[in-house]
Amino acid sequence: MRGLAYAKINLSLEITGKRADGYHELVSVMQTISLADSLSLERAGQLRLECDDPTIQGSDNLVLRAAQLLSTPGHFILRKRIPVAGGLGGGSSDGALALRLINLVYELGLSEQQLASAAAQLGSDVPFFVHGGTALVEGRGEQITRLPDLPSEWLVLVNPGLPLSTAAVYHELEPHEWTDGWATRRWAEQSAGDDSMPPNRNGLAAAACRLEPHITQCLGSLAAAGANPVLVSGSGPTCFGLVASEADAQRIARRTGGKTARFVSRAEALQIEL
Ligand code: C5P
Repeated sequence: MRGLAYAKINLSLEITGKRADGYHELVSVMQTISLADSLSLERAGQLRLECDDPTIQGSDNLVLRAAQLLSTPGHFILRKRIPVAGGLGGGSSDGALALRLINLVYELGLSEQQLASAAAQLGSDVPFFVHGGTALVEGRGEQITRLPDLPSEWLVLVNPGLPLSTAAVYHELEPHEWTDGWATRRWAEQSAGDDSMPPNRNGLAAAACRLEPHITQCLGSLAAAGANPVLVSGSGPTCFGLVASEADAQRIARRTGGKTARFVSRAEALQIEL
């Protein structure tokens, strides 16, 4: 079986505090987008991962960790298109798709809720990808409230080309950059489904820019080319800008050296091919 592991963007991200276990509490609206890795799984006697990016073939790859968590073997083939350590959730999306493929190929009969609980053991962003589409994400990342699909929007992604460690960005974050999460929660409660967009916030953006100053240039070039709003995704360094149409996306991508993408609905995000 084969599926696409879609990337995500954070349309809104607020960090509301730090927990005793060292993780941060967040309130975010996440959205799956059309940039995707592809992952296939075939039954096999042993666990094996074939990947076109040799730098991420090791035992900490979330595909292998997903198989170990569910105690199954299998032959996985992973084709990477989402930049590694880019703020787009690529590794987390691969891990969530691995859990869903294992569940189907080995007929484990796990519910979506059971898959999401397993996903939380793999990483903070993984539970969102078990659901896909548009969702309010809270806690450490494990509390997911599905929201109605947003209308399909086009965007342009610009990546400064260097990986940025999520842990390093959280470490750089100062308590005065925390916010109360109210704007994001209020949008989710009152406005989701009415075609309005979430508030344009990213509480990690300033910390990410301090570690990777090229982010500021990427945001500037997207804005100068006509994207609006422009934001950092997650802990960065990938930046994105929303645009009015596919033609605008192509024009702005050419001008900024970026890539075009569009929002992907929950139903599309969860498709699996035999
Ligand atoms: O959960 P995950 O392994 O993806 O997180 C990577 C790192 O990012 C954690 O070790 C932690 O330093 C930081 N993090 C955090 N609060 C979150 C999510 C991640 O502090 N909610």
